[in-house]
Amino acid sequence: MSTDAPLTVAIDGPSGSGKSSVAKGVARRVGLAYLDTGAMYRAATWWCLHRGVELSDGAAVAHAVRVMPLVMGLDPAAPTVHVEGVDVGEQIRTTQISTAVSAVATNLDVRAELRRLQRAVVDAEREPLGFSGGRGVVAEGRDITTVVAPDAEVRVLLTASEEARLARRSLDVHGTADAAAVAATRDQVLRRDRDDSTVSQFQVAADGVVTVDSSDLDLEQTIDAVLVVVEQVTGRT
Ligand code: DC
Repeated sequence: MSTDAPLTVAIDGPSGSGKSSVAKGVARRVGLAYLDTGAMYRAATWWCLHRGVELSDGAAVAHAVRVMPLVMGLDPAAPTVHVEGVDVGEQIRTTQISTAVSAVATNLDVRAELRRLQRAVVDAEREPLGFSGGRGVVAEGRDITTVVAPDAEVRVLLTASEEARLARRSLDVHGTADAAAVAATRDQVLRRDRDDSTVSQFQVAADGVVTVDSSDLDLEQTIDAVLVVVEQVTGRT
């Protein structure tokens, strides 16, 4: 493959696998755009709550998401999420959204709509007018390697032991990974794993997907491990 051919890198993984930081790092190193699809589900949840939509009303949620004016900023150095012109980058990371998001992400009409938007970004980034100037995109989530971009040149499942994932999440949320903080994080992470697995089986690599286990790697080492996969497929470093 020529080194300037468009490239799609699909990265899936559970929460706490470090995939957002890794995907951003890979995008920066290779010069690609970055798409955080989890942020799209979070933005959809924020939008429904903002509009007073009852999350148990599947049809109302699906309708709200279809008319959501969502703009994803694809710069891996400073990704942004705007809904109706409001920068929701911070608000979509609150515990309220993390707790509510599964109700929205398990709605099949919502998934169809967000998948359509995600594919449009992947396709646009393979064209000269995209943010990356046609270089391509790193897209990360739960169903990118299997459903959104199964034809991606590079497909990676990022895993990590439960212990490593809990420690990372705990550091993110509580600023420490001591025993009490990890215990407080455990319920939320394990419940999210359970809810997320009902929509896509992202904990096992599909055919042709390369597993990278980050349990014993730091961020830079994990980025390097994914770049090795990119290099094997494309010849790019
Ligand atoms: O990666 P994250 O924690 O920001 O994801 C937020 C939620 O969205 C999570 O509950 C799983 C869901 N999600 C999904 O169902 N499919 C994706 N491609 C990405 C995220």
